[in-house]
Amino acid sequence: MTAADLYLDLLKKVLTNTLFDREPDVEASQAEFILGFLQHYIRGPAISMLPLARMDNLEACVKDVVARNVPGDVIETGVWRGGATIFMRAILKSLGVTDRSVWVADSFEGLPEPDAELFPKEAKAYHGVVMQREFQHLAASLEDVRGNFSAFGLLDSQVCFLKGWFKDTLPTAPIERLAVMRLDGDYYESTMDALRSLYAKLSVGGYVIVDDYGEEDWTYCRQAVDEFRAAHHITEPMIGVDRSCVYWQRSV
Ligand SMILES: C[S@@+](CC[C@H](N)C(=O)[O-])C[C@H]1O[C@@H](n2cnc3c(N)ncnc32)[C@H](O)[C@@H]1O
Repeated sequence: MTAADLYLDLLKKVLTNTLFDREPDVEASQAEFILGFLQHYIRGPAISMLPLARMDNLEACVKDVVARNVPGDVIETGVWRGGATIFMRAILKSLGVTDRSVWVADSFEGLPEPDAELFPKEAKAYHGVVMQREFQHLAASLEDVRGNFSAFGLLDSQVCFLKGWFKDTLPTAPIERLAVMRLDGDYYESTMDALRSLYAKLSVGGYVIVDDYGEEDWTYCRQAVDEFRAAHHITEPMIGVDRSCVYWQRSV
């Protein structure tokens, strides 16, 4: 391994709190998994709640677009404490890339309240005790996220914050082109808002990553992706990263 690879490897583990601890067991019962998730990520020192397999996928996508000169910036819509975007900035740094930005899009006040009539499963989860009291709707402030970038020595002019609801920030965001778009806003509307505003800016050869495609119990994320793909005649195959996350590479 080169020093750069070692750096990225170490960073992944620190960001996901897996240097000395294990990820929560996805095979455990739902109650055990939620408790593990709470302890490991929410109450723990993790800066990202991505499983390592998703960090590896993100690394592969960003390195690939750089290697093949696919033009554009990289973005994550839904960043929580910022870990995945910090990792993207680190990858660009490790490759000596100075002409691409990392866009960090979030309300920085947690998930939006879903419409209970249109999205009953999401509304139920949103109003649940665990989400409200323990997860606090996954809110992390802009100040904290900036502080996290700064703590890793990665807060610089190649990092651009988009604060607000996606429906308000993304349509007018001053993004020219994207090479990687990572969607992690959890819900139907958050996913659809990102696809509607950003997919047209994605370069051919670039990647879309959808974190929650396989989650069926509490979100309609999959429906948003399927509807968008059907409406825009997107037929590139979706590739699974793990039990929930998928990605595809734009070919036309
Ligand atoms: C699951 S967390 C993201 C996890 C993150 N990618 C990581 O690496 O840990 C979901 C995030 O999406 C944000 N979010 C969801 N829908 C949003 C919307 N419509 N507008 C703005 N932020 C949104 C929430 O504030 C939250 O920070």
